[in-house]
Amino acid sequence: MSDSPKKATITLDDKTIDLPILSPTAGPDVVDIRKLYGQANVFTYDPGYTSTASCQSTITFIDGDKGELLHRGYPIDQLAEKSHFLEVCYLLLYGELPTADQLEWFESTITRHTMLHEQMQYFFRGFRRDSHPMATMVGVVGAMSAFYHDSTDITDVRHREIASHRLIAKMPTIAAWAYKYSIGQPFVYPRNDLSFAANFIHMCFSVPAEPYEVDPIIARAMDRIFTLHADHEQNASTSTVRLASSSGANPFACIAAGIACLWGPAHGGANQACLEMLREIGTPDRIPEFIARAKDKNDPFRLMGFGHRVYKNFDPRAKVMKQSADEVLDLLGVHDNPVLQTAKELEKLALEDPYFAEKKLYPNVDFYSGIILDALGFPTSMFTPIFALARTVGWISQWKEQLADPEHKIGRPRQLYIGEPFRDYVDIEKR
Ligand code: SDX
Repeated sequence: MSDSPKKATITLDDKTIDLPILSPTAGPDVVDIRKLYGQANVFTYDPGYTSTASCQSTITFIDGDKGELLHRGYPIDQLAEKSHFLEVCYLLLYGELPTADQLEWFESTITRHTMLHEQMQYFFRGFRRDSHPMATMVGVVGAMSAFYHDSTDITDVRHREIASHRLIAKMPTIAAWAYKYSIGQPFVYPRNDLSFAANFIHMCFSVPAEPYEVDPIIARAMDRIFTLHADHEQNASTSTVRLASSSGANPFACIAAGIACLWGPAHGGANQACLEMLREIGTPDRIPEFIARAKDKNDPFRLMGFGHRVYKNFDPRAKVMKQSADEVLDLLGVHDNPVLQTAKELEKLALEDPYFAEKKLYPNVDFYSGIILDALGFPTSMFTPIFALARTVGWISQWKEQLADPEHKIGRPRQLYIGEPFRDYVDIEKR
């Protein structure tokens, strides 16, 4: 980013304020309003931050009009095809694709952080068996700050790096154990001889009573899903992590806050909501009924997995996910999956409808992901935990970037106050 001589001029009553315009590497220019309140005694108003850049970043860039997603400049479709999740983790954390030696060091480091402190099992056992795994993940990840004191000093670069590695490495174990606990099966420990994705599959689906071989097709599909969910600019959960971190909170508390935010159906919870919606639709002949409901202003129903704050074109992750869905289901011998057929027909009919075309509503990352996860054997309740597992590297990369930013300070938005003006207390007898 470089300060260009360009400026924006605001005129308020008798005052004229010049605000510098900052030019990015890509995307829209940014009007720097940091001095606005001091110079003009006014706030800007932007609920939902539709026009607000909350920070400067070098990690991920989205071109919503083109439907392009770049991680450190590399397009997501190339990363999904040619790279793998731990290499993408290295790229997001350190800014460049690793050499062979760097990748070997990183994979070995992550592998050796996958175990949880044995006493943490007691946290899982404090939950009801029917707890949503996201509730368990929020609790257990937050509790990590009670165990890993040697990586909570955010002023220590080494602590920050160890915390980053621990969180990336331990999230699959936490997610898998939350799943095992919910189905009453014993926890399966991580294995150092398995890849990141294969290890997660093994911890979820193996049982001590018999050997379990991870299907490489499933492991590859799982790895690709992790890659497609790794990071996504300043989305709601990443912004939550940044805001929590701005107070100096430890990394485990910040990531727990991000997990909590991701859980919502408007955000990461949409993958579960989307598959449940597709199942409720059932057969393609009922699609018009649901499209009508989605268009009805008086009906709160929305097409889950459709629409996006930034993408006004196809979400590139949805495109890769759609191709993956066809491949994985075919390779798994799941032909004519009714849910996938319904999803494809829904996408076709919605995109032909002027309502969706005018509002530029396209399938997003959550539209097809649930179909693949369902085919891989996961219950819908595990869809968002898998999203959280994958997004941890994005959250922690953004967390590290913010801590290293000399301009960073505690986030403290202002407001447009429309409540009561000053008034004196009224004794109860006079009310
Ligand atoms: C993720 O931010 C990220 O990057 C998120 C994410 C990531 O990787 O981190 O990409 C992951 O969260 C993907 C989004 C998953 N959520 C869903 O699929 C839930 C369904 N989608 C919507 O709730 C909605 O599209 C949002 C929340 C995703 C975006 O909402 P916005 O940007 O606030 O848009 P909006 O609600 O103002 O909608 C604009 C218009 C409205 O109509 P009008 O009031 O202007 O007449 O489009 C309509 C909305 O009613 N609309 C939809 C719709 N999404 C928007 N109508 C029907 N179905 C939908 N899905």
